[in-house]
Amino acid sequence: MTDTPSRDPNDVAAAVPDLDTIVSLSKRRGFVFPSSEIYGGINAVWDYGPLGVELKNNVKRAWWRAMVQERDDIVGLDAGILMHPQVWITSGHVGSFSDPLVECGTCRRRYRLDELPGAESLTATDLTDPTVIERFKLTCPNDGGPLSAPRRFNLMFQTYMGPVQDEASVVYFRPETAQGSYVNFKNVQQSSRKKIPFGIAQIGKSFRNEISPGNFVFRMREFEQMEMQYFVRPDQAAAIFEEWLPRRWDWYVRYGVTPARLRFREHAPDELAHYAKKAIDVEYRFPFGWKELEGIHNRGDFDLSRHAEATGENLEYFDPATEEHFTPFIIETAGGPDRAAFTFLIDSYREEEVRGERRVSLALHPDLAPYKVAVLPLLKKRPEIVELCHRILADLKRDMMAVYDDTAAIGKLYRRQDEIGTPWCVTVDVDSLEDMAVTVRDRDSMTQERIPVEGVKRAILDKLDAARG
Ligand code: GAP
Repeated sequence: MTDTPSRDPNDVAAAVPDLDTIVSLSKRRGFVFPSSEIYGGINAVWDYGPLGVELKNNVKRAWWRAMVQERDDIVGLDAGILMHPQVWITSGHVGSFSDPLVECGTCRRRYRLDELPGAESLTATDLTDPTVIERFKLTCPNDGGPLSAPRRFNLMFQTYMGPVQDEASVVYFRPETAQGSYVNFKNVQQSSRKKIPFGIAQIGKSFRNEISPGNFVFRMREFEQMEMQYFVRPDQAAAIFEEWLPRRWDWYVRYGVTPARLRFREHAPDELAHYAKKAIDVEYRFPFGWKELEGIHNRGDFDLSRHAEATGENLEYFDPATEEHFTPFIIETAGGPDRAAFTFLIDSYREEEVRGERRVSLALHPDLAPYKVAVLPLLKKRPEIVELCHRILADLKRDMMAVYDDTAAIGKLYRRQDEIGTPWCVTVDVDSLEDMAVTVRDRDSMTQERIPVEGVKRAILDKLDAARG
């Protein structure tokens, strides 16, 4: 698959025509910056600015809420990024976690074979075929030079642990959070007294030395994952797998993604990851085509059996109801807050004309919006108005992210908040000093209502609660 837009005339349009709209808004308003920019940047690493960190934290909170807080059968874990190196040998990542790499004989540029122009129709079997370059007449997209036969390129970053740098001290930066949940299966199950089926949820950094990162934060070399491993009876795995598909789809829709821009795509048998029995991706229609947003995998007993074999630990589960011992199957939901936040940004982007002026807004779900509310003075020269603003702001800040701004006229202040997705603005005007009421403006409808100062926080909290459904 290449990162080019679909040419299917029946395909749904992306929410924004090109990525630049989002990249420039992100930089200008402080969502995402290139890492180490004053040094010229480092490829495939991005930094989240003041608004981006709020958005991404809110995405993680929303996921945790749906996956842990609202459920009785899933508990959390925060395992280390560095693990015993044998974990990655046992899990198959040292041997198999690789992409097909080709190199140009003249300019020496390297590419991921399946992302070359002309490689769209290649099957997973083609990707390992040494004659694939000749068969499909593929050449270097940079200078048309000859390409090498594909070789497997392992995606794991490695480093050394301790003061001696030799073979024995090699450790890997985890490429997925999942293994931390597998090696802790017994610890978590016994300490939390969970009965199967139950799950372990984790959010945390993962690292992959991607051959061709790109499309902004879509594919990075350092990123975060939100993964949940659900341990089930083998005979229930197929049915439980099916149950997780609509749940994960609904989560994206619940937080505002347009359903027409989502689809499921099942992996072909020769495309499955080394651990997977079955895999279905939730894909989103990005401006650069349909791409994976999250993967739902039936990993069978691959991981637990291999870890049990390698360590001699008994990782079976004893089912007191049936008095059976068995190795649980694992149904995994594997997404990432970077890709999810990116999707919410793209899908919420709106551009319209209001009274002859261009209005840009982010129709973010209020739970995801960096600021829930902005407090704005109509006249910043009146100290009583500013003082009342700060009193309201201080009260709001006890419960939510709120911001004050007085650096422009009110129309411009509204536009600025619209552009970063703030759902409500509270405006204090001259009348407020008399009637002790303020105007609350809604981002999406732009309607305004008058609310007593004392009731502002309650009104915003109620609106937040209503948005949760
Ligand atoms: N444990 C299974 C696993 O890691 P995956 O499909 O390779 O599955 C899961 O990754 C999710 O992690 C992806 O759907 C995506 O959201 C996120 N992800 C993976 N690689 C990424 C990258 N290079 N940059 C940003 N996010 C990435």
